[in-house]
This record gives sequence, structure tokens and C-alpha cells, in this order.
Amino acid sequence: MSGAPRVVLVTGASSGIGEAIARQASARGDHVVLLARGREALERVAADCERLGAASTLVVPTDVGDDAEVAAAVTAAVARHARLDIVVSCAGVVAYGRIPDVPVDVFDRVVTTNLLGPVNLARHVLPVLREQDSGSLVLIGSVIGHIGVPDMAAYVLSKWGVRGLFRQLRVDNRDRPGVRIGYVAPGGVDTPIYRQAATYGDSVGRPPFPVASPDRVARRVLEVADHPWRSGQSGISNDVIRLGFATVPWVYDRLVGPLFSVVAQDLVAPVVRGPGNVLTSRQELNALRGGQGSALLGIGANLLEVGRRQLRRRS
Ligand SMILES: NC(=O)c1ccc[n+]([C@@H]2O[C@H](COP(=O)([O-])OP(=O)(O)OC[C@H]3O[C@@H](n4cnc5c(N)ncnc54)[C@H](OP(=O)(O)O)[C@@H]3O)[C@@H](O)[C@H]2O)c1
Repeated sequence: MSGAPRVVLVTGASSGIGEAIARQASARGDHVVLLARGREALERVAADCERLGAASTLVVPTDVGDDAEVAAAVTAAVARHARLDIVVSCAGVVAYGRIPDVPVDVFDRVVTTNLLGPVNLARHVLPVLREQDSGSLVLIGSVIGHIGVPDMAAYVLSKWGVRGLFRQLRVDNRDRPGVRIGYVAPGGVDTPIYRQAATYGDSVGRPPFPVASPDRVARRVLEVADHPWRSGQSGISNDVIRLGFATVPWVYDRLVGPLFSVVAQDLVAPVVRGPGNVLTSRQELNALRGGQGSALLGIGANLLEVGRRQLRRRS
């Protein structure tokens, strides 16, 4: 790999992991092409990227679920730079609630954004990478694409699909050895995605312990872009959870409900039901970090709340 600036296109670049990837690529002097729905948040990130040393920035407001918008964004990036070196599919949204409780438009949009978004991206980016016979497409999945968890059916299904898409793209592009397909599945990461989520259940989400920083996941993503054989889980706890899910499913299914509510939900925060940012951008809530506080203190507060609820039930 030469030291020349590379062209790095990131979806979901205006918050969390995508923002961290854009910032790290900028700090090493790359060109960054930033996609998300909300323009103002993208421009905030672009200004930071310029300060950090980006060779150039290009902001292209795009809904990844809209194939024509993705096509136009990829065309704009190639018109500006005449090539693409690293493309990261990072845009994602979450809905909490069981299938009967989540409105159909919200459920479908989670699947559209998280699964059909990367499909749209692959449809328009791969012809460019294949023509160059070089470049990387990295998909961001989740540990939740390998397991089942309560009240997150839309997200679970979309992320299982992303894992399938990753393997499918590898198979389909074996004839172009210069084209690299990568995959990173984070566990809990401190980003705004939890407070941005649609909520139709009885509690709000929080990143499960152990919580990684978006910067840490971004480093892994950029490493995988150059070394796709390092694709896979981000965080050793993911392997423990996946092992339990695969090898002792009857124990896993029994324990995951109570454990998930204590480790991956905030039982104390007030529940505000609604579609969150699933249907439209709430870019004013986008940020590099989620500011969720200590995961261990959160677990402690949840355990106290569980105790309080049990006492209330008994009295
Ligand atoms: N945080 C975690 O604990 C965690 C764990 C595992 C996997 N992940 C995955 O990591 C990825 C990034 O998540 P994050 O935590 O960084 O989330 P985040 O901070 O909420 O950022 C999500 C980004 O996606 C954009 N976005 C949402 N819907 C979009 C759409 N339809 N079209 C284009 N852009 C869209 C958002 O901007 P606009 O709303 O303005 O479009 C924002 O820039 C997601 O795929 C998520 O599933 C996160």
C-alpha cells in the first residue's frame, strides 16, 4: 500500500463509529466522502475532518435505503476522485420491541437501512472496485448478527442478514483478488445509537458491558480494510456469548432474558415510546460518543431496580 492519500467513503459518517472512522482516516491524510441523511451533522464532521488533516472532504446527504440516492452518492465520489479505495457500510438504526408491538413501517425501515442499505452500497461500489481490481468494502455487523436477544427482532434479523451478505460478497468477488471484502461485528459501543433507537418495549437500551469506544472499533475497521482476513468479532466477550448461543441453546434461551435486561437495558430511565431516528434523521442528537456513563454503575442501578420491583410485588 503506497503512502498516497486514499479515498475513503463512509456511510453513517455523522455519528458514533462512522464518525470515528472518518476522523481516523482524515488524521492520516486521506480523502473522506461522508454519507448520512442529515446534512448539518455531516458538515460538523467534515469541518473536524479538515482540521484533523483530511486531503479533502465531500459531504453527500444520502439515505442508504434509497438505491437511487446511493447510486448518485457513489457517482459523485467517483466524479471527484476517479476512484474509491475504502468503503465502509456503517449506517445503522435500532428498534426495541417485539414483532407485534413495533409498527410495520418502523420494523421494515430498520431492515431496509441495516440490510438493504449495504446491499445498495455493494450494488454501486463493487463495479468500481472490480474495474480497478483494488479497494475494500467493509460491512459493520454486530454480535447480535450471531445470536438472538429479547425485544430486538428487526435489528437481529437485519444483522444476521449483514453477516450473510459479507460471505456472499466474498464468494461472488473471488475472481478479483484485488477486491477485499471485510466484516466487523462490534459488541457494546458507547455511541448515541441507544438514545436514537425506536422504542416500543418496556425499557430503554444501553450498550452492554464491556463497552468499547467508537475509536477502538474504528481502528479495527480500518485495519480490516487493509487485512480482510482479520474480519470478525470486535471484543472477546462476543466469542463467549456466541459460544453459549451455539453450544448450549437451552441454557442460553433461559438466561438471555434476565441477563439482557440487567446488562443491556436501562431499567431506571423513563421510557419514551416512538420511532426515534428510524424513519427520519434526528441529527441534532448525533455525536461521536453516546455519553452513557459507566456500564458497571448502570448494571448496579438495574440490580437495585430489580430488587425494588420484587419487593413491590411481594408487598
Ligand atoms: N453502538 C453499538 O453498540 C453497536 C454495536 C454493534 C454494532 N453497531 C453498528 O455500528 C454501526 C454504527 O452504529 P453507531 O453506534 O455508530 O450509531 P449512531 O451513532 O447512531 O450513528 C448512526 C449513523 O447512521 C446514520 N444513518 C441512520 N440511518 C441512515 C440511513 N437510512 N441512511 C444513511 N445514514 C443513516 C446516522 O445519521 P442520520 O440519522 O443523519 O442519517 C448516523 O450518522 C451500525 O451499523 C450499528 O448497527 C453498533
